[in-house]
Amino acid sequence: MAKVKKIKRIGILTGGGDCPGLNAVIRGVTKPALDHGLKVLGILDGFEGLVTGSAIEVYDKDVSGILSQGGTILGSSNKGDPFHWPVEIDGQIRITDKSKEAIANYNMWGLDALIAIGGDGTMHISKGLMELGMNIVGVPKTIDNDLEATELTFGHDSAVYVVTEAMDRLRTTASSHHRVMVIEVMGRYAGWIALNGGLAGGADIILIPEMPFEWDAVYEKVKRRSMLGKKYSIVCVAEGAKPKGGELIIKKTDVKRTDPIQLGGVAEIVAKSIEKSTGLETRYTVLGHLQRGGTPTAFDRILSTKFGTSAIDLAIKQKFGRMVALKCNEVRSVTIESAIQNQKLVKLTDQAFISAKAVGVCFGSKNL
Ligand code: F6P
Repeated sequence: MAKVKKIKRIGILTGGGDCPGLNAVIRGVTKPALDHGLKVLGILDGFEGLVTGSAIEVYDKDVSGILSQGGTILGSSNKGDPFHWPVEIDGQIRITDKSKEAIANYNMWGLDALIAIGGDGTMHISKGLMELGMNIVGVPKTIDNDLEATELTFGHDSAVYVVTEAMDRLRTTASSHHRVMVIEVMGRYAGWIALNGGLAGGADIILIPEMPFEWDAVYEKVKRRSMLGKKYSIVCVAEGAKPKGGELIIKKTDVKRTDPIQLGGVAEIVAKSIEKSTGLETRYTVLGHLQRGGTPTAFDRILSTKFGTSAIDLAIKQKFGRMVALKCNEVRSVTIESAIQNQKLVKLTDQAFISAKAVGVCFGSKNL
């Protein structure tokens, strides 16, 4: 990490899948940066822009009115990993290393530091680029909330809000038609969206990647509810959930992506299986990218603003190699290196899990 006399020019990018609150972070970084007399360069489409040299100057007018806007004014990509850059040669995709180009553009733009807003993938790439001499401050984002180093990532609350609203809507139609409703939510390896969304939306069954489920436990739960005169059941299933001994349901594989696997389809399988085994009419809904789009909740706007302003503060103090993180409800920072050590997965000791169990939620196992 190269210390400079006083930082004058920073770059900012948003990497990986987008989520509500990215613009609020960009605003939270840019406004104080401009106030300190810094220049801000917005790198377009995540690390892709860093490799291809695509960027714009960001002025105060550009960040006005974006606090409540979903998406990211800078664009994002989950295919732009400089260390894993796909090139098509003779009709075949070859993975190449473009980190030298990334470093060259950073130097050519005269950047003193980069604010990298992203999830696990973005922090891994940041670590690699820091080892090549870049000064980076990280800001954790992901609707999945699966970074161990921070109590919360922004975007998660907005996604949970969407899931809750969808479940409220599904409940009324499930009740009218006496149906089982299966709702598929995002969450590749961590089930936080399903757990928190399911808890807020009153799911009867929650299936998450961390706890492979038993089909019989699922059937029994819906049958018991039906026998008790309850006219419907709601099942909230994370896209990464799988039955015991079963496999992840993969929709598509794309080697150009940092994580090549695209998940999707588990709700359909669960719904068909419930209907076949219990005789109860069942429907399914896949929420998909509705969870990532749209306006951030008030909570996410506040967290994003705190994260953004804290990140630029770290950059100005030249505390590079750190990622802002929520600890004991306060914004602090951790090293980017430590931030990528562990994924935050749902544990049996988590309060949300314990409370869900206490109100009778079935996690698809007789032993849980
Ligand atoms: O990591 C965030 C996330 O929303 C995951 O929950 C989901 O599996 C993935 O992104 C979907 O990515 P894409 O939009 O590239 O299909």
